Amino acid sequence: MRFYVKTYGCQMNVYDSDRLIDVLKKAGHVYVEDLEKGVELLVVNTCAVREKPEERPFSFLTKFKDKARFFGFGGCVAQKLKEKVFEKAPFVNFTFGSYTIDRIPEVLERLEKGEKGPFDLTGFDGYPASRHPPYPVHSNGIKAFVKIMEGCDNFCSYCIVPYVRGREFYRSSKEIVEEVKHLLDMGVKEITLIGQNVNSYKDPERGIDFPELLYELDKLDGRFWIRYTTSHPKDFGIRLVEAHKDLEKLCNHVHLPFQSGSNRILRLMNRRYTREEYLEKIDMLKKEVGDVAISADCIVGFPGETERDFLDTIDLLEKVRFDLVYSFIYSKREGTKAASMEDSVPLEEKRRRLEYLLEVQGRISLEKNREEEGRILDVLVEGFSRRDAGEVSGRTRKNKVVNFPGGDKLIGRFVKVKIKEGYRNSLKGVIE
Ligand code: SAH
Ligand code: SF4
Ligand code: F3S
Repeated sequence: MRFYVKTYGCQMNVYDSDRLIDVLKKAGHVYVEDLEKGVELLVVNTCAVREKPEERPFSFLTKFKDKARFFGFGGCVAQKLKEKVFEKAPFVNFTFGSYTIDRIPEVLERLEKGEKGPFDLTGFDGYPASRHPPYPVHSNGIKAFVKIMEGCDNFCSYCIVPYVRGREFYRSSKEIVEEVKHLLDMGVKEITLIGQNVNSYKDPERGIDFPELLYELDKLDGRFWIRYTTSHPKDFGIRLVEAHKDLEKLCNHVHLPFQSGSNRILRLMNRRYTREEYLEKIDMLKKEVGDVAISADCIVGFPGETERDFLDTIDLLEKVRFDLVYSFIYSKREGTKAASMEDSVPLEEKRRRLEYLLEVQGRISLEKNREEEGRILDVLVEGFSRRDAGEVSGRTRKNKVVNFPGGDKLIGRFVKVKIKEGYRNSLKGVIE
């Protein structure tokens, strides 16, 4: 049957949706990129990390509930609500999580034969990645995500992920290397290793750890870039920093969420490091690698966050001078430890703090991007620029978006670009 997939959430969901598309295609179904062209099956792959993303798939499905015959509901909201999904959206025929994607074709067969269902495929019984080709290639064929682990054991007090993605599971390095090789054979130029906490990776067969996995992948032939996300500060050490120094293919960008700059809040968040330890790691990274981009996530308005705690976060921003920060207002997640903490800070005040943080970080991001002006940088061209059809767009090793005049022949290639101007969110250049 003809099917469409709507994906919410992080890279893990993007990877899982690409897997789902491959699995269904292999079973003879037809993937449709434009919902308006008519489909029989509509699937949503959902995110439960904050309240707003959790609501979105329901309104999406309600809006399109007359557009298809069958409906699938997968991902982190399905894992959280399980059979309650069928109460909230009675027309949904099946739910699934990342472990059960391989079982969906069978469910579709049963639905086509007239079985009523609904079928609940949530849970952790199955396998959360591909075991053999076809491996998921992210849409444009230039970049691909490779899942190296699933789940999280950290239980940060605010976070739903450990409950919906389960305990940490690591794929074998043999399987990972095979998947990467296959992607490179298909012409992919950038591999991003993904997981909730990639630097706790340990090969279940050969015992090699995350830095060792990077050294193995760097040895593979061909010109390509390696990135990874996300790492946890408590597991971020000198050997990973050395990998950044040693490895030609590993990009000089590190995403290292700090969440808060206040030791009191970090303790309440169960993050298991102090601001001093975080800053020490950043110093080591800057000292050893030199030219490196650093990005992070942080939460504003955690239960009981005082003005002083918040100012500690601002101070940390000023000290590190991140290239980019993703900041979120704390969102209460039922079932997590923080959900039972008293939260006396009004939403208005949280919004004010977020606005202020965005202003400070916006200035720093602009200053960091201006530092790139005049440099000649390698850029992997990904497609046409969103604003100007006469321009193409790509990213530097530091993961900065660059727009510059050029045509479709450049797409998928590495080119040298001279940076003319740095803005808050991107750079502008000319080909060298
Ligand atoms: N595993 C990654 C990211 C997980 S979710 C890590 O540990 O860094 C992505 C981001 O969402 C988190 O880094 C955090 O900043 C944010 N987040 C998670 N739970 C949240 C909540 N309950 N409210 C607001 N932001 C949250
Ligand atoms: Fe959530 Fe913390 Fe795990 Fe990240 S490390 S997924 S924030 S519990
Ligand atoms: Fe969201 Fe699940 Fe990712 S909750 S952030 S889609 S792991």
